[in-house]
Amino acid sequence: MEISLQEVTFAYQAAGRQWPVLKDINLRVAPGDFLAITGAGGSGKSTLAMLLAGLLEPVSGRVTLNGQPVRGRGKGIGKGLSLWQKVGMVFQQPEQQLFAETVAEDIAFGPRNMGLPADQVGVRVKAALRAVGLDPDGLGGRSPFTLSGGQQRRVAIAGILALEPEVLILDEPTAGLDPAGRAGIIKLIRAFCQQPARAVVLISHNMADVAELARQVVVLHQGRVALQGTPREIFRQGEALRSYGLLPPSWTRLMQGLHRQGAPVPLDVLNLAEARDAILAWLGGGG
Ligand SMILES: Nc1ncnc2c1ncn2[C@@H]1O[C@H](COP(=O)(O)OP(=O)(O)O)[C@@H](O)[C@H]1O
Ligand SMILES: [Mg+2]
Repeated sequence: MEISLQEVTFAYQAAGRQWPVLKDINLRVAPGDFLAITGAGGSGKSTLAMLLAGLLEPVSGRVTLNGQPVRGRGKGIGKGLSLWQKVGMVFQQPEQQLFAETVAEDIAFGPRNMGLPADQVGVRVKAALRAVGLDPDGLGGRSPFTLSGGQQRRVAIAGILALEPEVLILDEPTAGLDPAGRAGIIKLIRAFCQQPARAVVLISHNMADVAELARQVVVLHQGRVALQGTPREIFRQGEALRSYGLLPPSWTRLMQGLHRQGAPVPLDVLNLAEARDAILAWLGGGG
């Protein structure tokens, strides 16, 4: 499953006029990809996520699925719709949309709507719960509202995984969670993308999440692609990131600080362990 955006422009319509949000966006998401889309609040990330998921249609430019120009899923019929079903979208704060009396019922809603028979729905519910690190037997019968915030979010994501998407789009999936909640989400995303032929699009302004997970990064600034590259290429440009309203992760800021003091340390470390090794190498080198 490959999603491609070519020269895409998007504007919201309100009060009789157009409010431009995205300009000249070119993106491709193919099997095996892990793309992070980042940028300051209001830069257009959630709008871009909805275009990638077929929930909005561009004002100009083309969105294609497996090379086929298709209409948005709202108007999708036949082939177009069945392709869009392979794209799973996890909205911001998805736990706010939990509604059923039990966790298992909530997750069953999507697969049942797809017309799957009851036994297959049951199999999918259990597999989705395991995929998000929750015990189907222990938690499946509980009310989602008795769970922690992190667990609720994992249940909501399980509801999307139960649709067995090939492309998973997550909008700010770790926002507002405590460290344990965040770790649970990072782990399930990593497990999803390790399956063959899967692709992930992670929308996040959290640079630590981006550094930890993504293979490619797009930085949006005022609706345009301002930077694009691997996490290392992006983090090397700390000053540019700041100018786009983004705060590099703490270990990158530490390296930048040391560098300014004249220490010969690399600027593009991706995690705390790499920062430690760089500092040890510098000190061991007689610095
Ligand atoms: N439904 C809408 N109608 C009009 N304007 C919107 C709507 N949703 C978002 N916007 C505007 O579009 C811009 C981009 O928003 P959004 O895609 O939510 O950015 P981000 O997710 O990066 O914070 C913002 O200026 C926002 O105010
Ligand atoms: Mg957003």
